[in-house]
Amino acid sequence: MKLWLFFQDRFDEKVPEYVEALKIKAEAEARGAETDIMNPEHIELLVDSSGDWYAMYEGRVLDLPDIVIPRTGADTTYTSLSVMRFYERLGVTFLNTPRVVETAADKLHTLQVLAANGLPVPRTMLGTFPPNMEAIEKNLGFPLIVKTLKGTCGGGVFLAESKDQFKDLTDLIAEANATTGTHFIFQKFVAKSRGKDLRVFVIRGKVHACMQRIAAEGSFKANLSKGGRGIAHPITPEIAELSIKVARELRLDVTGIDLLFDENGFTVCEANTTPGFTGLDPACNVNTARAIVDAAIAKWHENQRKGIFGFLRLPKWGTTNTKGGSGKAAARHIAQDSPMPAMKPISDAAIADVEGNPAPRMDVRAAA
Ligand SMILES: Nc1ncnc2c1ncn2[C@@H]1O[C@H](COP(=O)(O)OP(=O)(O)O)[C@@H](O)[C@H]1O
Ligand SMILES: [Mg+2]
Repeated sequence: MKLWLFFQDRFDEKVPEYVEALKIKAEAEARGAETDIMNPEHIELLVDSSGDWYAMYEGRVLDLPDIVIPRTGADTTYTSLSVMRFYERLGVTFLNTPRVVETAADKLHTLQVLAANGLPVPRTMLGTFPPNMEAIEKNLGFPLIVKTLKGTCGGGVFLAESKDQFKDLTDLIAEANATTGTHFIFQKFVAKSRGKDLRVFVIRGKVHACMQRIAAEGSFKANLSKGGRGIAHPITPEIAELSIKVARELRLDVTGIDLLFDENGFTVCEANTTPGFTGLDPACNVNTARAIVDAAIAKWHENQRKGIFGFLRLPKWGTTNTKGGSGKAAARHIAQDSPMPAMKPISDAAIADVEGNPAPRMDVRAAA
């Protein structure tokens, strides 16, 4: 089995997210999977009108992986998303599909999906410049949270304690909006949660761990990367039910959900597609890297089983892409004698199912 981790940051052991990727790689290798960490931004793709394709990475021609685990989070670039969609269409199993990575990266879109499904979220407005003070005061009030539409690790989250502070801040963020195109949201401050929240880690419909995060002295943000500390928190039925619903509505296989404490229990702050676990593992006594790998392999097996039935429905199975089949051969061919050879690797089986997940790639050996 071949597994890829997609990672966009520096491949440097000083980067905590890279160390986490290495941990996942080690667990996958312990399970016998050949594992690579790759930057999807550096994958070169070619698709042509006859449905042919090939992919190169750092000068070598790539085979198809069985599984991709995206670890690109809210910073996932357009290039990375394109690469993910490309492989999804070829029937590769994704632990978090490109579509859900894209949805969860957008905090407003996430909250809208959840609210439409009856889940509690803080009132949120898309930031416009100059801001409509009257509407903000009426709908959200002060103190007020301002955050970048896409962001992680607490870096783009600000608290304006008063209207005056908010006015000062808007000059700065209007500038960022105009010069860098950064989008902002304005959100009701959930006062009961000041300086604390819950991080609930859900893997394939089950709560894997739950941790309360307590902000560093004087901060309202509970992120561990901002100096917060984490302690295990009981997984009450209320927490489990809410978190599992969030993961289900967003179709997330793996997610770290931030829950804010509010008057009625909890409200959903955000859902991350690349949740960290360096702080979670010791706090909750879990091995998250192993749980992620096991979930990926389990999903792949399920897709393989679905594939056997899909296989029976395919009219011309001989032309579909199979592991080690035409895609691979074609890739070799291209490497040896460009330009394009004749090939038909794109699988009929790569048609999205109702879950938004692709149907699995056909594996003739599995079907035989
Ligand atoms: N509406 C809010 N009310 C109170 N605290 C909040 C609110 N939104 C965010 N926070 C605090 O700020 C932290 C970071 O916000 P979040 O939206 O999760 O951004 P990031 O993606 O950077 O983690 C949260 O963990 C929480 O402690
Ligand atoms: Mg967060």
